[in-house]
Amino acid sequence: MSEVGRGGTRREWLRWATDRMRDAGVPDPAREAWRLLTPSDCEVPAFVTAPDATVDAREAASLDHLVTRRCRREPLAYIRRSVEFYSRTFRVDPRVLIPRPETETLVDVVLAMEPGAPPGHVVDVGTGSGVIAVTLALALADRPIVATDTSGEALQVARENVRRHGVSDRVRLFHGDLVCAPCDILAFAVVVANLPYVTEEEWATLAPEVSRWEPRGALVSGADGLDAIRRLVARAPRILLPGGWMVLEVGAEQGGEVGAMMRAAGLLQVRSYRDLRQIERVIVGRAPREDGT
Ligand SMILES: C[S@@+](CC[C@H](N)C(=O)[O-])C[C@H]1O[C@@H](n2cnc3c(N)ncnc32)[C@H](O)[C@@H]1O
Repeated sequence: MSEVGRGGTRREWLRWATDRMRDAGVPDPAREAWRLLTPSDCEVPAFVTAPDATVDAREAASLDHLVTRRCRREPLAYIRRSVEFYSRTFRVDPRVLIPRPETETLVDVVLAMEPGAPPGHVVDVGTGSGVIAVTLALALADRPIVATDTSGEALQVARENVRRHGVSDRVRLFHGDLVCAPCDILAFAVVVANLPYVTEEEWATLAPEVSRWEPRGALVSGADGLDAIRRLVARAPRILLPGGWMVLEVGAEQGGEVGAMMRAAGLLQVRSYRDLRQIERVIVGRAPREDGT
């Protein structure tokens, strides 16, 4: 039990949690303490309505446990086992990458491109928790969706999210590399991917919340971070239907290189989109139509 112990008020608990997090090196400890101790599904938490109420023994034990986990630099999303993406709640745990806000830009771009794509399937390559596949399935009622991942553990989480959002009949999950052999669809109207794009060197510099907790295979992809993306783009002529779009999330400063890869693979109308922080984040390219345009 903590120094605040059984007798502490909620206000004291917040102060104490902030101090412990500061000592553990958690960035912005006061905000983190507030986020950690106030449940996300509670509109007006007891920490606001009754800050001077004494925390009982049961609540104290649970708060102490939460603070200890966060001080070990476990991300809040794993502690809560959930994250918001596109205004929906998804299950996450250390088997999957925590979806990032910039990936909502990737979804926005797919939704903007989709009306111009030919009839056919959408594939989400490297689906992780399944947030992209589920969000697209809910937005695109007429598109069957396929999602793949090399991590069987990630696919277990994706399956849970697919079920939770009621799209099991619309999203098929496959275990394997890129657009893998078990998948019986040969070519797609849209190939969307948020594959790993962190370099080996960057990995060592990432915050403990990432390097200690998130799956390395979801983040790192070779010396320049582009191994998986390079292999996927090289396959574009085979896996895209004529007129189909490839839509890829990339790291800051990778846009130029990935755009060049797409042009070298024969894709047309290659261009990029920025995320909300004005970082070039999404690169798109289109397979030539039957008439070569
Ligand atoms: C950056 S995470 C993205 C997860 C999710 N799509 C998202 O946006 O939150 C990359 C995912 O790609 C998977 N992955 C890595 N290499 C892969 C490959 N060669 N083929 C398929 N999936 C791969 C990882 O297991 C991980 O789940």
